[in-house]
Amino acid sequence: MSTTNKLTFINEKRGIEKEIVTNEDKPILILAEQENINLPYLCRTGDCNSCICKLISGSIIHTTQTTLQDQDIKEGYFLACTGFATSDCVIKTHQEKEFARYKKGI
Ligand code: FES
Repeated sequence: MSTTNKLTFINEKRGIEKEIVTNEDKPILILAEQENINLPYLCRTGDCNSCICKLISGSIIHTTQTTLQDQDIKEGYFLACTGFATSDCVIKTHQEKEFARYKKGI
């Protein structure tokens, strides 16, 4: 039996606040698109960071990803294209600029 997870997408600046309840075993990017939440992307294979989001609560696992370090993931950053929810999650979308600032330490 698949688990049902509640995913809450938020981004204050972009006026995004949407909740979806799903038992589909698909990447976060796909689940968002199915609900007309348009997240940025380029590669869709975990190799570019375009789709980066930040987990406010909950847990995510990646099937594959080549750009994030363990510390980045501990900070909550994850890639929506290869990230799968393993619990209810609150997800801050469109984090590419924030991630770049975080990496520069500013
Ligand atoms: S779209 Fe490139 S890492 Fe997700």
